[in-house]
Amino acid sequence: MITAVGFGLLSLVLGFGEGLEHNRVGGRAEPVVQASRYGSLWPLPQKVQISEVSLKLSTSSFRIVDAKDSSAGPSCSVLQNAYRRYYEYLFGGAKRQRQGQSKSRRAGPSELTELQVWITASDSECDGFPTVASNESYELSVGQPFAVLKAPNVWGALHGLETFSQLVYKDEYGAKSINSTAISDFPRFAHRGILLDSSRHFLPIKVILANLETMAMNKFNVFHWHIVDDPSFPYLSRTFPQLSKQGAYHPYTHVYTPADVKMVIEFARLRGIRVVPEFDTPGHTQSWGKGQTDLLTPCYSGSKPSGTFGPVNPILNTTYDFMKQFFSEISTVFPDAYVHLGGDEVDFTCWKSNPDIQKFMDQHGFGQDYSKLESFYIQKLLDIVTTTKKGYMIWQEVFDNGVKLKPDTLIHVWKGNQQQYQNEMANVTSSGYQTLLSTPWYLNRISYGQDWQGYYKADPQDFNGTEEQKKLVIGGEACLWGEYVDATNLTPRLWPRASAVAERLWSAKDVTDINDAFNRLSMHRCRMVERGIPAEPLFSSYCPHEYKGI
Ligand SMILES: *[C@@H]1O[C@H](CO)[C@@H](O)[C@H](O)[C@H]1NC(C)=O
Ligand SMILES: *[C@@H]1O[C@H](CO)[C@@H](O)[C@H](O)[C@H]1NC(C)=O
Ligand SMILES: *[C@@H]1O[C@H](CO)[C@@H](O)[C@H](O)[C@H]1NC(C)=O
Ligand SMILES: *[C@@H]1O[C@H](CO)[C@@H](O)[C@H](O)[C@H]1NC(C)=O
Ligand SMILES: *[C@@H]1O[C@H](CO)[C@@H](O)[C@H](O)[C@H]1NC(C)=O
Repeated sequence: MITAVGFGLLSLVLGFGEGLEHNRVGGRAEPVVQASRYGSLWPLPQKVQISEVSLKLSTSSFRIVDAKDSSAGPSCSVLQNAYRRYYEYLFGGAKRQRQGQSKSRRAGPSELTELQVWITASDSECDGFPTVASNESYELSVGQPFAVLKAPNVWGALHGLETFSQLVYKDEYGAKSINSTAISDFPRFAHRGILLDSSRHFLPIKVILANLETMAMNKFNVFHWHIVDDPSFPYLSRTFPQLSKQGAYHPYTHVYTPADVKMVIEFARLRGIRVVPEFDTPGHTQSWGKGQTDLLTPCYSGSKPSGTFGPVNPILNTTYDFMKQFFSEISTVFPDAYVHLGGDEVDFTCWKSNPDIQKFMDQHGFGQDYSKLESFYIQKLLDIVTTTKKGYMIWQEVFDNGVKLKPDTLIHVWKGNQQQYQNEMANVTSSGYQTLLSTPWYLNRISYGQDWQGYYKADPQDFNGTEEQKKLVIGGEACLWGEYVDATNLTPRLWPRASAVAERLWSAKDVTDINDAFNRLSMHRCRMVERGIPAEPLFSSYCPHEYKGI
């Protein structure tokens, strides 16, 4: 630990590849430690060769262009948009700084003039949405006189542009430089997600978009939008507008309109990110009950209704009529092939208190096993969602309770300690289901010190199982539940801690050197800060461009 800290402090002073001989920390001269041989790359690509040949990028002449043979033309908004974004990241600050300066540096012989982006598959996927099956690979070669970024489709190209931008650093005179480099890259896992909770606190669109922007800098590709829950229902449904009218914290200022949702989905698409909404039932639904009568189970106190409500009422046909209409809307609003159906933490107390429910239990021979009733509900819900042609993700309880699931169901593991979640991963995969891990990545749990190291060390494929079982692990998600989080603290609480998860899910399994990770992550964090993202520090240090506050 001490070593990691010492390494990090010093490498930070090296900035983006800038070399300094000495650093004074607390008045002591510290020996110079080498910066990572991978510069500030994060997450680390699968194959990287960075040479010592340094090329200059000139603000006035450098261009990002479509390669001659690229299958994506000038009408590809995903790429054109990304070119602008990355040009701004590369030179935006520099241009402003240069204003008023007398003369730009002469173009030398070792200048990089162009990045050519070459989409090789006949379908660039420019007009599509990323999917779990998207090929996100790319190859980047930086040499003279130009750099070439080759990818089968736009999603790989987006990752390659980010990587290219991470290779650029300032030389000792402050000139933008990049070393001659060869990179061949692809993700280890197909599903690399961030869960945000917009029910416990309403999250303004602006902070959601900033999160998507930061996800792209970390090569995350799934935004799991836990959009509604007990406390509030901010999703404005066209079919059931009463849900948000009654169930949101405020019917106009604290809702996501259809236009808002569309904007989030398109902003995400332009960054290669899928949006998977979660509509969690039958528990976690208090807010639904405010705008939809008879949806929730009336709880009883003795022989009389107590006036409070429990989970969704599973014994009424009207419940299923409602779900049919609701999820048919959801399936058209959200283009992703998956919807997350929740199914976690169902409290049986209210069901037990209700005489109608007890009668139903008797009729169906469920005895006193309320997980059978839960399964009855979930089973019907899954059939409904199947008719909307969506696949589904569910929290692990649904699997644990033995609900019959479609073979392509994704089981989301979130419970227990390390031993328990590893057992669960083994169980889920031995039953042949695909799975996602979140247990070690509940970033809403905060503690003093460098907790990112724990996230970094967790590996979703570390459990007892065959190679076949390991292949069923399609990735994981970092979760930021919203009890203590709103727009005031979301970004610094999430970043760069989630970046540790990003590298675990993208880079090769053997990328585990915590010192090297600290060095690169410190620089990556400073880069996020330079790009306007208030990512919190890892430890005592400074950035070349500090966050300037609000
Ligand atoms: C880039 O090239 C410079 C100049 O040769 C060298 O000092 C530096 O170590 C190189 N950077 C990396 C990450 O290899
Ligand atoms: C992705 O595309 C690259 C380049 O065409 C190819 O080599 C690779 O096998 C593909 N990866 C997958 C998982 O299909
Ligand atoms: C609910 O639906 C079932 C199956 O379609 C039907 O048998 C039953 O009569 C319905 N109950 C009511 C109260 O309509
Ligand atoms: C996994 O499955 C085994 C056998 O079915 C069972 O005994 C065990 O409790 C399960 N473990 C977990 C964590 O559910
Ligand atoms: C894996 O299985 C072996 C042999 O069955 C057992 O000794 C070991 O404790 C298991 N490890 C884990 C992490 O469950």
